[in-house]
Formats: sequence, C-alpha cells, structure tokens
Amino acid sequence: MKILVLNGSPKRDKSDTLRMTNAFLDGMKDAGSQDVHVIHTVDSHIEYCTGCFSCMRNGGTCVHDDDMKAILDEILASDLLIWSFPLYCYGMPASLKALLDRTLPLSSMAMRKVGERYEHVEQADFSKLRYLMICGCGFPNSRHNFEPAVRQFEMCFPSSRTVITVPESPMFNAPEAESVTAPRLGKLREAGRQYAESGSISPELLSEITSPMIPEEVYAQIVNQSV
Ligand SMILES: Cc1cc2nc3c(=O)[nH]c(=O)nc-3n(C[C@H](O)[C@H](O)[C@H](O)COP(=O)(O)O)c2cc1C
Repeated sequence: MKILVLNGSPKRDKSDTLRMTNAFLDGMKDAGSQDVHVIHTVDSHIEYCTGCFSCMRNGGTCVHDDDMKAILDEILASDLLIWSFPLYCYGMPASLKALLDRTLPLSSMAMRKVGERYEHVEQADFSKLRYLMICGCGFPNSRHNFEPAVRQFEMCFPSSRTVITVPESPMFNAPEAESVTAPRLGKLREAGRQYAESGSISPELLSEITSPMIPEEVYAQIVNQSV
C-alpha cells in the first residue's frame, strides 16, 4: 500500500504524535509490505491559499509555484493519507492547515448536495484514497479538547476515514513513563495491523488507545510539579 504521512508537528522526528504514527505503521508492516513516505510540513514550501479560486475553475492550476504541486501529485498517487499532528489550539498546526487549504485544486467550484450539506465536485479522482488522523495532545482530557479537530476532519473527509486521538502524549518522549507508553505503543501497533488487514480498528482497541495512560489528576500533578 502506498502511504503518505503528513506530519504536522514542527518537532519532526521527535514528535510525540509521530511516535504513535510510527508504531501504527510498524503494525501495518507486520501485515504486509508498505511503501511509506513522510512529509514534515514545517520543512515544505507551502504558500498560503490566496482565496482566488482560479485553481477550482475549469481544471485551473494554483497561482503559487511551490512544493504543493508535487504534494498534490503524491496525494493522488497514494492509497492512504495519514494526517499525523499534535493538537494546537484545538485544531491542527498552521503548516498542516496551510497544506489542507491548498488541496482546493482537487475540487471544482461546482457544488452538489449530499444528504443535508453541500460539497464541491471533484476535479481529480481520489476515490481510492483512505484517510487516517492520528492526533496527540498535552492535556489529559479528550472531551472538551479534541472535538473541533475531529469534527473538521470528519467534514473534510466524510468517508473512508478513521480517527485516533491520544491524550497525555508528551509522555511518549519521557523515558520514565515507559512502563505506560510501551504498552500503548503496542496497542497502536496492533491497531495498525488490524487496519492493514481489515481496513478498520475494533471499537474495543480504539477505546483503549484513546483513553488516558495514567489518571488525569496524576498526570496534571506531574506536569504541574515540573513547571
Ligand atoms: C501552540 C500550541 C498549542 C497547543 N494546544 C493544545 C490544545 O489545544 N490542547 C491540548 O491538549 N494540548 C495542546 N498543546 C500541547 C501539544 O498538543 C502537546 O504538547 C503534544 O504532545 C505535542 O505533540 P508533538 O510532539 O507531536 O508535536 C499545544 C501545544 C502548542 C505548542
């Protein structure tokens, strides 16, 4: 499977979230060989969308000449897009959001009603693409925290989409927390294997992965002692 990982963490390979994503990818590789390419969006030249819409009219192209052209080609050649990012202000980091905005050329201005909402008609064929969001965050609570980012992902990718959110993720880079992070990375690896084999993750496993690794009060206390 051709997998494109869009890493939105400016910490690049040191990203807490990318550690989870790598464990998930290891699980996918347990199930079969995978062709993986990681893009650190912070290192890509991605101009902001100007909102001119010229790309959406009659097969038009973007007014910017930057890395996004190659990234769009790579997206279209992929089977799976993994959006790996830390939660920033309840959303995705700016470099990844700039990339998301710049996927506009894949759609035309024309719109159609699907259920209760409108969506743009495709200008390119990305029907085979599947989408996975893997998101870490610094607070111990998932509710009242991840919802805006998850909702945005759901709206952008209404089908063929899977979401993994993990709270307390700075622990993945804390050696002293290994007794709880290693088992969690093991579960992420198992999730990757399930996903590669069946295209989904069992609700029980997903629920275990998305729960806090240590009680939230204990986590908050540890963090507060270090500041
Ligand atoms: C600018 C900024 C905004 C953040 N916003 C949130 C937030 O809304 N909720 C949260 O739980 N953590 C927030 N965090 C914490 C990060 O999500 C957390 O440190 C995460 O583990 C970083 O992951 P990474 O190593 O993959 O970049 C924020 C961090 C930064 C730097």
